Amino acid sequence: MKDVHQEVKSLRELSALHQISKSMQTLDLEEILHLILEGVTRVIGFDRTRLYLIDEQKKELECKMAMGIEREKIKDIRLPLDEKNSMVARSVMEKKSFNIENALTDSRVNKNLKELFGLKSFAVVPILGRDRVLGAITADNLFTDRIITPEKFESLITFANQAGLALENAKMYDELKSFNTQLEEKIKIATRKLRKTQDKLIQSEKMAALGKLSAGIAHEIKNPLTSIKLLVHSLAKEIQHNEIAKKDIEVIENEIERVNQIINRFFDFARPKEPEFSSVDINQVLEEIIALISGEIKEWSIIIEKEFLPLSFIQADKGQIKQVFLNLFLNAIQVMPNGGKVKVGTRQEDKHIQIEIQDEGEGIAEDIKNKLFEPFFTTKEEGIGLGLSIVKRIIEDHKGWIRIDNAKPKGAIVTIAFPCIDNKKNESIKN
Ligand SMILES: Nc1ncnc2c1ncn2[C@@H]1O[C@H](COP(=O)(O)OP(=O)(O)OP(=O)(O)O)[C@@H](O)[C@H]1O
Ligand SMILES: [Mg+2]
Repeated sequence: MKDVHQEVKSLRELSALHQISKSMQTLDLEEILHLILEGVTRVIGFDRTRLYLIDEQKKELECKMAMGIEREKIKDIRLPLDEKNSMVARSVMEKKSFNIENALTDSRVNKNLKELFGLKSFAVVPILGRDRVLGAITADNLFTDRIITPEKFESLITFANQAGLALENAKMYDELKSFNTQLEEKIKIATRKLRKTQDKLIQSEKMAALGKLSAGIAHEIKNPLTSIKLLVHSLAKEIQHNEIAKKDIEVIENEIERVNQIINRFFDFARPKEPEFSSVDINQVLEEIIALISGEIKEWSIIIEKEFLPLSFIQADKGQIKQVFLNLFLNAIQVMPNGGKVKVGTRQEDKHIQIEIQDEGEGIAEDIKNKLFEPFFTTKEEGIGLGLSIVKRIIEDHKGWIRIDNAKPKGAIVTIAFPCIDNKKNESIKN
């Protein structure tokens, strides 16, 4: 009778386990861990179960989850993968299951764990995947004091094997997922890089073609322009008594000069000259430029505030550097039609010198921030949009860099840096 009873119980247990094994087809790691614990405690019938997984990188066993034990207690349990340290490690290393009858006298049992969990008798079985060990399960009956029968021990081993396969699938799936994400990320980065290079290539090809075409046109314009200039000049002499015509001629001459300047600037852009380097004192160059535009500054009610700190000399083409500052000052002046202050500062930064030009204009709108240095980009009615692209090219030819940001409380601030050649410093100038 007892046998039949036992048989029915085993059958029930078997079908419940079968049910759980079926549920373990899920690929969610957490869910599987939970199902394993449930299978061991509720179905096979243990009071407490702990589940350890191998942390491959750290070569440790981490207690991932438990049932019948507070979460707090297992939170930091990590066991070294050393069979002498614990029965859990031994079970994993030797791929063997153990039914420890008396933990108190068994010297192989880890002392700390013995104390922490009040271990008396317990079973430990490895969780085996297809060709690797994944971890181990320990189970005991501390509260009910039931002994672990050979049948229960067998059930635990069989179940752990099933669990191992499910766990392995989930782990593989997890690894595959992370591999996939990594791969996707790599592809994204590569595509982004490719697109950038392609854009640059298209841009530089476009620029080269455009440059050639417009250089040709500019050249064609320059010749007749020179003739017109000469003719207008002699015409002016002939009609010097006609006041109205004289005024008109003056306008014509000014306009010719404007076209001439535009073409010259264009040549600067389309056919850059190789810089002719010499030792240059940037503070000195800035002084010269400020003197040059002083007339313009007065007219526009603009104040220049200087703070020039001692600087090392730099290797530079003085003419080109002047062109850089002239363009930047003009930009600053043009954004303050009602006057304002331009702050100019220089300082030494280790092996670089740094120059800042800050205005009180409207600053730079977010949507044009990355277009500023594009050739022919302008927001001005009379602009050509070449200033900053020439500036950038010259600075880069000098192995320096330029950045334009919005200043506080208003306006734009242009920062330029040039590498310096020696430690000789000039005087500081302040106004
Ligand atoms: N200090 C500044 N404050 C606000 N916007 C600026 C400033 N400097 C440049 N910009 C913006 O960048 C654009 C491009 O400047 P860039 O000097 O290249 O050309 P431009 O001044 O328009 O024409 P060009 O210099 O050829 O006469 C300007 O049209 C303007 O919109
Ligand atoms: Mg400009």
